[in-house]
Amino acid sequence: ARLFVNASQTRPIPDTLFGIFFEEINHAGAGGLWAELVSNRAFISGFEAGGQNIPSNIDPWSIIGDESSLIVSTDRSSCFERNKIALRMEVLCDSQGSKVCPTGGVGVYNPGFWGMDIKQGKTYKIVFYIRSLGSVNLSLSLTSLELLHSDVSNWTKVESLLEAKETNHNARLQLTTTKKGVIWIDQVSAMPLDTHKGHGFRNELVQMLVDIKPRFLRFPGGCFVEGEWLRNAFRWKESIGPWEERPGHFGDVWMYWTDDGIGYYEFLQLSEDIGALPIWVFNNGISHQDQVDTSSVLPFVQEALDGIEFARGDPNSTWGSVRAAMGHPKPFDLRYVAIGNEDCGKKNYRGNYLKFYEAIKLAYPDIGMISNCDGSSHQLDHPAEFYDFHVYTSASSLFSMAHQFDHTSRDGPKAFVSEYAVTGKDAGTGKPFGSTCRSWVPSWSRKEQVDVVSMASYAPLFVNSNDRRWNPDAIVFNSSHVYGTPSYWVVNFGNNSVKLKISVDGLDPNSIKLSGSTKTVLTSSNLMDENSFKEPNKVVPNRILLENADKDMDVVISPHSFTSFDLLKESNLSRWKKLIHSQDPLFKK
Ligand code: AHR
Repeated sequence: ARLFVNASQTRPIPDTLFGIFFEEINHAGAGGLWAELVSNRAFISGFEAGGQNIPSNIDPWSIIGDESSLIVSTDRSSCFERNKIALRMEVLCDSQGSKVCPTGGVGVYNPGFWGMDIKQGKTYKIVFYIRSLGSVNLSLSLTSLELLHSDVSNWTKVESLLEAKETNHNARLQLTTTKKGVIWIDQVSAMPLDTHKGHGFRNELVQMLVDIKPRFLRFPGGCFVEGEWLRNAFRWKESIGPWEERPGHFGDVWMYWTDDGIGYYEFLQLSEDIGALPIWVFNNGISHQDQVDTSSVLPFVQEALDGIEFARGDPNSTWGSVRAAMGHPKPFDLRYVAIGNEDCGKKNYRGNYLKFYEAIKLAYPDIGMISNCDGSSHQLDHPAEFYDFHVYTSASSLFSMAHQFDHTSRDGPKAFVSEYAVTGKDAGTGKPFGSTCRSWVPSWSRKEQVDVVSMASYAPLFVNSNDRRWNPDAIVFNSSHVYGTPSYWVVNFGNNSVKLKISVDGLDPNSIKLSGSTKTVLTSSNLMDENSFKEPNKVVPNRILLENADKDMDVVISPHSFTSFDLLKESNLSRWKKLIHSQDPLFKK
């Protein structure tokens, strides 16, 4: 095979092409990117829809003690108006007398999201609210004990910094007492002090994002935005403000409770922190099972307008001032919003869409709006700056779609391929050769397509290995470890090695030497190899110096590999040296 590269006829790929899509799926946020260690910190329903309106299920909180020493229940006595449920512990034993408490006391513990990861020497901030009719004597423990004695007849906020005395990947937070009486507890939080930029995100997970240099962050879903039913959809106004006041909600598509610690504000903050443009997907009055009629959709439209004002309004505006009070007076750089997720074709989509589009265009003419309808094969029947394109299919059919956008009109809206992955039999759980998909995206960067596809993101991004709702995913983690699947790193497919002649034309004749060029290869000897917590680097890219780099060269592409050639003109040698000296982690001598 022969590959001709004309260096004088290059076209820049859109600056925004590569980004990420974060969805609250697989415990990606709650018990994942959001560093909160306590699961169900408000003692609200753990596993059922209905939230505050059904008898509380305090799972995964568990009781320390037996029925003769402790009665645990919940009631609606919290000091937080939007979050009324609190834990009630009636302690029947005492440090002395007829019913003596067991050693260590009685109370409750929280195991976190499948075990709290506590590291020796690190500090954890514990916060909770407590009330009791008498004075209390409460022990607080992660890996060591802290004692609290006080009079808390009114709800009282307790804050404590605990330094871990040992490392434990499976720690739990305990609240115990040896004193008879009734204690109410609410809003219990345990956060490591060192989160990414101090903004509450788990460092090593954010680092995985920073390393792929995403230019945009689409959030917070996916189906999570729609909800199975509208009453369980993500509502941005419920997800902002003090964390204690956020009611949280049951995500009824991916079937778990989230306290919305990672809310609308946090998503905007995360985008800013990782240098990505935020792309907010909001509910357009349509869920999987129910829809708001276009004639009644205005409250949803107003909610979206308020959300845009919250993100980018003046700090003196109604919603901009709420953002400023949360610590970000400067507007966030919100330039794109998506009107719904995968709703095209549903009865009210077009009507609802137009209401949103018109109102937002009027108030924010510069905002790029993303329609759910596919504009790649025919013209949209409604105005849009972008259209959303999702594809989950087999490796072979994904490759056959390399020409998907060849005939798309150049004058219409641009494609935003916001979800793509190889799924099905040839995908496995992130196996390399079922993970061909990220190499599919650059194929649109051929000159025929570069002006049509402007943004693309793999999906889903994260999976907590304890709650795999969707396979495969790009990044796998548990409470203490993380690795990227080959999809994270990019892998190509094909059974045979390919001898390739590369001819580079159009180089400046004064600097045609390509010394310093490199080849980066991602491959593995075994087709079904995948990464794991034990071997996180089994399938990762390796970079080597390309010895024979010249304007005409013979190279061999290994089977089942993804190979990238970075041809560097001699004049760029100093850049290369800098790369090596900066200890490029991919570089192998
Ligand atoms: O990425 C997983 C799901 O796939 C998303 O929630 C949805 O948009 C798509 O159907």
